[in-house]
Parts: sequence; C-alpha cells; structure tokens
Amino acid sequence: MSRGVTCSAPGKLMLFGEHAVVYGRPCIVTAVDQRMRATISLRADDLFHLEAEDVQLTGYEKSISELGKGKIPRGAAFVERAVQLFCEHTGWAGGVSVEMRSEFSALFGFGSSSASTVAVLSALNVATESGLATEMLFDIAYKTVLAVQGKGSGFDIAAAAWGGTLWFVAGGEEVEPLNLRGASIVIGYSGIKADTVTLMEQVRRLAQQDPALVESVYDSMGDVARSARRAIDECDWKTLGSLMDINQSLLASLGVSTAKLDAMIGAARAAGAYGAKLSGAGGGDCMIALVPVGNEQPVQAALAAVGGVALAASVQAPGVRLE
Ligand code: MEV
Repeated sequence: MSRGVTCSAPGKLMLFGEHAVVYGRPCIVTAVDQRMRATISLRADDLFHLEAEDVQLTGYEKSISELGKGKIPRGAAFVERAVQLFCEHTGWAGGVSVEMRSEFSALFGFGSSSASTVAVLSALNVATESGLATEMLFDIAYKTVLAVQGKGSGFDIAAAAWGGTLWFVAGGEEVEPLNLRGASIVIGYSGIKADTVTLMEQVRRLAQQDPALVESVYDSMGDVARSARRAIDECDWKTLGSLMDINQSLLASLGVSTAKLDAMIGAARAAGAYGAKLSGAGGGDCMIALVPVGNEQPVQAALAAVGGVALAASVQAPGVRLE
C-alpha cells in the first residue's frame, strides 16, 4: 500500500439565499474552520476500503468495479460515489483505501457530506497524480451530491473547494470570492438535526400550491443576496444585518423556520446583533448573527439563555488543501 495522502476541506454556513439558490437565484456562502480530513492510500489489489469511525463505519470493503452497486450504507454513500465517479472520469482502476476523520459533528449542518466528498476527491487527485483542476473536482463532487441526494445547488461543494466567502449560482455557474473582512459572526446550534432533502421537498410542495407566489419569494431572496453583496463590498454591517433580518422573514414565509430558531434569532437581536437568520435548509441546525466586533459574548449568552449552543467556529476558512 502507498504512503497516505491527506487532504482536508472546510464546512460551510449559508449567509444569504438558501432554497432560492436551488431555483437559480444567487446565494452567499462562507467556509467555516471546521474540517473533514480524508487520507487516501493506493492499494496493490482492486479493492475500495473505507474507515469512517465518525459515522460508525469500519472495514467497509468492495471491489472498485462494484462501486455504486448493491446496498450502500448511509455513512459510505458520498465517499463511495465520489470514488466511483473519479474512477469513471480518470480511468483509474486500482484499489484505494480511504480513512475519514471529522473535526465537527454531522449534526450541525456544516456540510460534512460535501466537505468529505471534496476532501476525498482532492486526496485521490494527488495520490493518483491525475492533475485535475479545482473546477473539475467541483464538477465531480457536484455530480456525487446529485447522485446521492437527487437535488442541491452545490453551494456547499463550492465552499469546501474554494473556501473563503463566495457569491454562488447553482451548479457553479458563477463562483466569485467576496471578502467579509472585519465582520463578526456568532453561530448558534439549535440542538435539532434537520434533514436538508426533507426540507427542500417541503418547499417544493409549497411551491406547487402557488408557484407564482413562491417564485416571487425566491426573486426577493435573490434581490436580498444582491444587496448583501454590495453591503459586504462596502463593509456596511448595519445594512447587512437588516438584510439578514429580511432574508429570515422570507425564509419564515416558506415555513422553514422553527420556534427554537425564532427564539434564538430574537435573543441575538435583543442582545445587540445587527441582524440574524437561520442558516441552511431550516427546520433546526444553525442560526447566525452578525454582531458588532467585541459584542460576541452577550449574544452568545443570549443564545444559551434560550437553550441554544454557541459554536466556536470562525468563518472565511481556506478551501480544500493538502495536509
Ligand atoms: C441547504 O443547506 C441549502 C439549500 O439551499 C439546499 C442547497 O442549496 O443545496 C436548501
């Protein structure tokens, strides 16, 4: 077996535009400094071997030619598909051992699946000396997400691949770096694990009832993202905070906020945040608050007072890298 190659990729937080981005509107995403690590070792046989203790998977093994076939355990789905699509794209047919390690819980909604996918593809790219560009790794990773969960904009893949803060349009049609310099974001975990696919389905059903109305909500979300981009460029945090509040109201109108998220968002605003909103699909997971620098602690305390958990993670983390 070859010496291992390790790559790590960051998690993500959606700042503006969730749900609407699935329907062609732009969003703004930032990478968080909690990383997934993938170590790839090339094997002398033709087996795919996976160790991923964080998702209770050890010693999972099958032949490379069988990847994607038969029953795939939940914890192996993204990694197995990623390796399969990489092999199909590059023609690589040798055996591969993968070891996954996580710095963050899959519960938070930081995008552990997309970060794993990007970390695995990047480590495979180095180990096999395939020389694929980041854009191609993004494409293979996005195909992986669509193969496993059927739907998604790919914003989480972009955050894992390029890192920083990004302006993003679905499928990678637009990926442009933004700079959040000087902004302070407090992250609060609601304690409730949300399922993105279920929430996307819930929103799709709502849109079926009144397509024109929901399309106009998506349009407004797109407008909010465009204004937010201007506010970020101008470091206008007060305006950015109000735009977060507007985005939150639009998300609530789609029915994806919860009483717990509402309580945390209200508590953060009352404790001095410029603005706050849920981050991601909703239904639980995390909320974010934009706060004046130096005012983090009172906002974190306010979140704890309503039963939330302030997470120590910073934003604008670097994208995938060789360790
Ligand atoms: C989930 O974190 C964000 C959604 O917009 C889905 C996606 O963009 O893939 C709901």
